[in-house]
Amino acid sequence: MRNLIHRFIIIALLLTWACKTSQTGITVSPIVKEAKSNKGIVVTASSLASRAGTSILEQGGNAIDAAIAVMFALTVVYPEAGNIGGGGFLIYRERNGQTHALDFREKAPAVADSKYYLNQKADVVDSLSQEGIYSIGVPGTVDGIFQMFDKFSKLKNIQTLMHPAIQYAEIGYPLSKMQADQLNHLQSRFLINNKKETAFVKFSRWKQGDLFQQKQLAETLKRIAKNGRDEFYQGKTAECMINTMNAHQKTWISKADLSNYHSVWRTPIQFQYNDYTIISMPPPSSGGVHLAQLFGMYELLGRSDLKFHSSEHIQLFTEFERRVYADRAMFLGDPEFYPVPVKQLLNKNYLKKRIAGIDLQQASDSRDFIDKDELSGESEETTHFSIIDKDGNAASITTALNGSYGSFVVAEGAGFLLNNEMDDFSVKPGVPNAYGLIGSKANAIAANKRMLSSMTPTIVVRGNRVEYIVGTPGGSTIITSVFQVLMNLIEFHLSPSDAVQSLRFHHQLLPDCIYFEKGILDKKLFTDLKNKKYNLLVREQIGRVELIAREGDSFIGVADQRGDDSVAIEN
Ligand code: DON
Repeated sequence: MRNLIHRFIIIALLLTWACKTSQTGITVSPIVKEAKSNKGIVVTASSLASRAGTSILEQGGNAIDAAIAVMFALTVVYPEAGNIGGGGFLIYRERNGQTHALDFREKAPAVADSKYYLNQKADVVDSLSQEGIYSIGVPGTVDGIFQMFDKFSKLKNIQTLMHPAIQYAEIGYPLSKMQADQLNHLQSRFLINNKKETAFVKFSRWKQGDLFQQKQLAETLKRIAKNGRDEFYQGKTAECMINTMNAHQKTWISKADLSNYHSVWRTPIQFQYNDYTIISMPPPSSGGVHLAQLFGMYELLGRSDLKFHSSEHIQLFTEFERRVYADRAMFLGDPEFYPVPVKQLLNKNYLKKRIAGIDLQQASDSRDFIDKDELSGESEETTHFSIIDKDGNAASITTALNGSYGSFVVAEGAGFLLNNEMDDFSVKPGVPNAYGLIGSKANAIAANKRMLSSMTPTIVVRGNRVEYIVGTPGGSTIITSVFQVLMNLIEFHLSPSDAVQSLRFHHQLLPDCIYFEKGILDKKLFTDLKNKKYNLLVREQIGRVELIAREGDSFIGVADQRGDDSVAIEN
C-alpha cells in the first residue's frame, strides 16, 4: 500500500512537472540592454533570438552562422517581423576586411503591373497593397539564408543552426505582454485574412505568459533543415504557399515566381567620413545612398559646433533629410529596372547645390522639392540585428515582413506569415504608402521587380577595425535613425548607450513636418522652430536600434529600450 501511495506521489509529481514545462515552454532569458565582451555579441529584438545566436557562437560558429540561427529564431519568437515569409539585406565584413552586401529583398510576382492597385478611375484601392494576398511579395529570406550559408558558414551544418528555432516552435515559449496584447488587438485581421485556423488566434484571448507553440511552423522548419533551400521554393512549403493563393481564389504568386526567386550579391555603398569608413546597403535599398548623402551634406557644412538637440541641430538635420527624401522619391528604385544615378547623387558638387538654399532663419518648403508630374506618395514591422564574433567578423542585418505581422496571411499548413512588402512600391505616383512615403516611376510596380526599401544595415570601420555595427526597423524613419545614432556617437560623443536610447526626430519631405519622440520639444525649442515656420508633431517611438560599438579591445552591445530587444554575449 505504502509503495502504491509512493508511486502515486511520484506520478503526480512527474505530471505536475510536465504540466509546468508545457505551460511555460522554453524559459525566456532576461532582457539585457547593455553588455560588454571580448568574445561574440548578438543584439536582436528578442532575448530568445539573441540567445540562439550566441549558442551557435559557443559551438564554434561564426557571425554568419549566428545570423542564420537568429533569422530562423526570429520567425518563431518574433512573428510580428521575423520572416521566412519576407526578405531583407545583409552587410557583412569579414575579419580580413572584405565587405559584402546581400540583397534578399522580395520581388513582385510576374502578374503584377503598375495598374494593379488602381480601380477603373485610376484611384488607389485602399489597403490592397497593405493587407491580404495581393500585398505579398515573393519571399527572399530563405534563399538569402542559403546564399550566406553556402558562402560563409563555418559550422556547415544547417540542422545545428536551425535547432534553436525548431525547439522554440515545437516546445513553445511564453508570450510577452506586448505580444499578447498585439495578438488580441489584431485578432480580426488574422480571421479576415485566413481561411484556416492559425496559431495566432485564441478566442479566449491571449495573456502574458501564455505558452505559444507553433507545431506547423516546427514541421516546416524541419523540412527546410532536411531538404534545404529548394524545400521552400519548390517543395512542400512552396505547395503550401500556392495552396494559400488558391484557397483565396487569387492569381498572384505562382510556382514559377517561387522557383525563379534568387537573391543577389551586390557591391556595398562605401564612403568616408573623417577617418571612418561607412559601409551600407545599395539599391534596391535607399538606405546606403541617403546615409552617404546625409553625412556628405553635414561634412560640407563644416559645423562642428552644433549643440545636441539644439534648434540648429534639429533644423539642419531636417533640411538635409527633406532634400534626401526628395531624391529618394525621384530617383531610387530597383537598379535592375531603373538606372539609379548613385554616383551623381553622391557627387560633392551636387550635394553642395542641394544644401545651398538652407536658411537657418526659415524652414524650406517641401513643395519646392517635388516634381508634381513625376511624384506619387510610401508606409512599419521590421527587425534589425547586429553580430560580432570573437574573430572580428561583423554582420549587420535588417529584415522585414513590412507591416506588423505582414499581410496577416499565414501560409496554409506551413504556419509562417507572409509579408506585405508590395506596399513599398509606389502604387501610384504622388500617393503616399503606409509610411507616408511617395515615389515616382523609379519605384513603380513591374513584374519581377524589387520594391524600394529604407533598410540601412551598416558597419563602420576605423583604422581597419570594426568600430560600429548598427541598424533599426522603422520604415521611412530607418535612414534618419541610423544617421542620428552614428552622429550621436561620432560628432556628439555620446556613450553607446546614450547614442541609442536618446530621443529621436525625423523628417521625410512629406508630410512636411518634423516628427519628435515625446520629450525633446521644450517650450523654447517649440517656439523657436514654430517661429521659423516648421510644422511640429509628437509621435510614438522612432525605431529600435541594435548597436555594437568598439570599446578598446572589446565590444559593447546595446539594445534599444523602446522594445523587448536584448543583448546576449558568448560564454
Ligand atoms: O523596406 C522597408 O523600408 C520597409 N518595408 C521597412 C518596414 C519597417 O521598417 C517596419 N518597421 N517598423
